[in-house]
Amino acid sequence: MLVPKAFLFAHPAKHSLSPAMHNAALANLGIEAAYLAKDISQEELAAELEQLRHSDAWGCNLSIPHKEHALKLMDWLSSEAQAIGAVNTVVVRDQKLLGYNTDAYGFMRSLEEAGIHVQDAKVVVLGAGGAARAVACGLKYAGAFVALWNRNTERAKVLCAELGLATHLTDDLLAAALSECDGLVNTTSVGLEQPMQSPIPDTLLSDGLATRWVCDIVYRPLETRLLRTAREKKYKTVDGLGMLVHQGARAFELWTGQKPDTETMRNAALEQLNQ
Ligand code: ATR
Repeated sequence: MLVPKAFLFAHPAKHSLSPAMHNAALANLGIEAAYLAKDISQEELAAELEQLRHSDAWGCNLSIPHKEHALKLMDWLSSEAQAIGAVNTVVVRDQKLLGYNTDAYGFMRSLEEAGIHVQDAKVVVLGAGGAARAVACGLKYAGAFVALWNRNTERAKVLCAELGLATHLTDDLLAAALSECDGLVNTTSVGLEQPMQSPIPDTLLSDGLATRWVCDIVYRPLETRLLRTAREKKYKTVDGLGMLVHQGARAFELWTGQKPDTETMRNAALEQLNQ
């Protein structure tokens, strides 16, 4: 029986694709260790991290609802974790908890893989939650002009101020922004297990608009309604699996010092998604 050396702390944790991805990558490299998902409530997080600190584990991933809450529980934060304001990967070293965020890296790698370059590009980001923070940070540091829209306008305003972005988009400006942007990213949870819903009306992606690519970071289903509409209207589309795989690959590298095979990780995730 393989000993777990890396964990996922999340709530809920049951449907996560991370164990399948990481265990496949470990087996592929012949590393005799396991990755285990644990359902941890917000009240239990501090104690679980303390236990991790004194164990011989490599570390853990954090997912909903722990990413922001964990900031103050770390001994050190990477510059990405500080800029994004959330931790998704913890590395244990000399009984210290080092907090990283690999989400922005994962997102940017997934665009790169699709041949998308964002330097000087105008990109509309939908959403103002934790995922939007990582995506907007990644885009901003790569030289894109980010315009942020959120259903709750106040939240968009706060996030723009925190990340040093231009003013948020109000509802009446969204159509105009979409008509002149190069890319659109959905970071809202709309479409997640609701294949018929899209965060924006289909007509806002009408033919003739200049938006050239659309990314939806939702990966359940892999083709959301937004991506289907975008594909039908001939935009380049990027699904959310690439971000998931690459954020995981970077965490794996931080823990083991070895680069995992990302195709192995993607196939393991796809297999579970298709079950
Ligand atoms: P995460 O950390 O995964 O980003 P979150 O912080 O709960 O999750 O954020 C969810 C995002 O999806 C928010 O931007 C939310 O918008 P509000 O701030 O207005 O709540 C967005 N969202 C969720 N359901 C939505 C819906 N039906 N329509 C539009 N946006 C929605």
